[in-house]
Amino acid sequence: MRKIISLLLSFSMIFVLTACGQSAISENQEEIQAATQKTEEQSETSQNGAETEKQETEESLNTERETELSESILTEEQEADVNTKILVVYFSCTGTTELVAECITEILGADIYEIVPENPYTEADLAYYTNGRADQEQNDPNVRPAISGGVENMDEYETIILGYPIWHGQAPRIISTFLESYDFSGKTIIPFCTSHSSGVGSSASNLHTLCSESVEWVDGKRIEGGASKESIANWIGEIGID
Ligand SMILES: Cc1cc2nc3c(=O)[nH]c(=O)nc-3n(C[C@H](O)[C@H](O)[C@H](O)COP(=O)(O)O)c2cc1C
Repeated sequence: MRKIISLLLSFSMIFVLTACGQSAISENQEEIQAATQKTEEQSETSQNGAETEKQETEESLNTERETELSESILTEEQEADVNTKILVVYFSCTGTTELVAECITEILGADIYEIVPENPYTEADLAYYTNGRADQEQNDPNVRPAISGGVENMDEYETIILGYPIWHGQAPRIISTFLESYDFSGKTIIPFCTSHSSGVGSSASNLHTLCSESVEWVDGKRIEGGASKESIANWIGEIGID
C-alpha cells in the first residue's frame, strides 16, 4: 500500500513539475515574442526616422543646388550683359577662319556674325592663280562683293574682332564691303587673319583707311589654322580683352 501511495505521489509530482515547466516555457515564449515585437517596432521607428532624416537632407541639398543654379544663371546673365559688347565677325570660304572665330567667341562668350556673300564662292572661284573670280576681285581694290543680310544691332557693340583669310596678301574685297556698311566711330576693331603661310602684312593697315579716324585699330594678327584654344586665349590676353 505504501508503495502504491509513494508511486501515486511521484506521478503527481512529475505532472505538477511538467505543467510548471510548460507554463514557464510558454511564459518565456511570450516574453521572447514581446521582446521581438518591441525590437521590430523600434527598428521600424528608427528606419522611419532615418528615412525622414534622409528625405530632409535630400530636400535641403536640392534647395542648395537650386540656389546655386539660380546664382550661376544670374552670373551667366551678368556675363552676357558684359560680353554682348564684343562681336566676332568673320568671312571664311573653307572653314579655317571660321574655326578660329568660333574659338574666340567661345573664350569671350561674345556674339558672332558671319559675312555671307550674296553670291557664294565656288571651288573654281577660289582656285588662285587661275584668274578666277577671287583672283580678279583681288586685282581690283574698288570691287565690293555684296553681302547677304547684316548686323541690325551694331550700335550695341564696342569691340569688333574681325577675321578673314589672306587673299594675295590682302583681305578679301568683301571685308571692304563690310567695313563701309556701318559707322564704327568710337569702336575698337581687332583684325586677325588665317593664311597658308603669309603674315598679316599690310592687309590690316589697308583696312583702316576705309573707316573713320575715330576707330581704334589694334595691330592685326595671323592665327595659324587649327591653333589651340590656349594659344588663342593667350593672344586675347595679350591684347587685353577679358
Ligand atoms: C584667292 C586666294 C588667294 C590666296 N592667297 C594667299 C596668300 O597670298 N598667302 C597665303 O599664305 N595664303 C593664301 N591663300 C590661302 C588662304 O589664305 C588660306 O587657305 C586661308 O586659311 C583660308 O581661309 P578660309 O578657310 O577661312 O577660307 C589664298 C586663298 C585664296 C582662295
